[in-house]
Amino acid sequence: MDLDTKYPAISDLRARARRRIPHFVFEYLDSATGVEDQHSRNQAALRKIQFMPEVLHGEVIPDLSTTFMGRDYPIPVGCAPVGMSGIMWPGAEKILSAACARMGIPYCMSTVATVVPETLAPHIGDQGWFQLYPPADKGIRSDMMSRAKSAGFHTLIVTVDVPNDSRRERQRRANLTIPPKVNLAMLVSMALHPEWTLGTLREGIPSLKFCEDYGGDKANSSVHHAGHVIRGQPSWAEIDEIRAEWDGPFLVKGIQKPKDAKRLVDAGADGVWVSNHSGRQFDGGPASIDCLPAIREAVPDTPIVFDSGVTGGLDVMRALALGADFVMLGRAFHYAVSALGDKGPDHLVHILREDMISNMNQIAAKDLSQLRAALV
Ligand code: LAC
Repeated sequence: MDLDTKYPAISDLRARARRRIPHFVFEYLDSATGVEDQHSRNQAALRKIQFMPEVLHGEVIPDLSTTFMGRDYPIPVGCAPVGMSGIMWPGAEKILSAACARMGIPYCMSTVATVVPETLAPHIGDQGWFQLYPPADKGIRSDMMSRAKSAGFHTLIVTVDVPNDSRRERQRRANLTIPPKVNLAMLVSMALHPEWTLGTLREGIPSLKFCEDYGGDKANSSVHHAGHVIRGQPSWAEIDEIRAEWDGPFLVKGIQKPKDAKRLVDAGADGVWVSNHSGRQFDGGPASIDCLPAIREAVPDTPIVFDSGVTGGLDVMRALALGADFVMLGRAFHYAVSALGDKGPDHLVHILREDMISNMNQIAAKDLSQLRAALV
């Protein structure tokens, strides 16, 4: 049975991933924080956005291509930074970065990856973005940035919505630790997922390799929040410092307020990333998509990336119609690689592309610029 029949939607990839990887791993990827209200709000708010269908419009062959920050892309989507990718599937960072390079879409490596930037240098092609949790130690920060740049990552993403560990109750209940501390329940779970276990043994027990270079073993304390290890609590002063230091495109991720977006642009950021960390940081906040229109109005000419709550191509269209230029997906790419290994990322992008083409036909949108006008 072909993949499109077996796994026609991201929800199918999520279901297969849930069966294919140990429970404590799935809980890290799939969970949000608190009672996961914001996670649900993110998705519910996207689903409220409607387009008006057109009829009798003749043939439409939607063009999904876009130019973003001076680079051309066949589709306005990419792989968002996710901590500890290598725990989701053995070698996931290599699989995902190589697939994104092959498809000509961005791959964003996380500071808390299970590899160092140099490991991905042969795989990222010209699609490498690097996501930085700004360490409190400025020397470490500079070294991380220069290593990422030397490894070929051309765009820097600074994440600013993680001032401290969120509670991540589901991860705690699943007893996630970094690296995985094996107990009986975990052994049973690993035995029930032989492909993941054998692959993990082959690839090596995952740990935060990049952080270890700066924090040794303490980088791998038994935390429930992978961002915990070397995170500083960035301030506006650090944005100025990082801007001065990074010679290349620089975006700031985790923006929900128009005035923050405006201030970042005034401080020299080349773009803003509207996100609420996909509900993983603060359960009491608004849906990410509900923050987007006012931010677009505040910074009308600034490149905007969107994430949080996207579950298909129609959601990508919704974000673009409300002012985003590009959409990055974290969980979806990791469901895909956990579900289908190296076939996963390409199948995910196939799902997104086909969903967009199908839905853009319904509203007679010939290209992405025509989405906004079709909103109800
Ligand atoms: C998380 C951090 C690593 O959401 O971004 O788990």
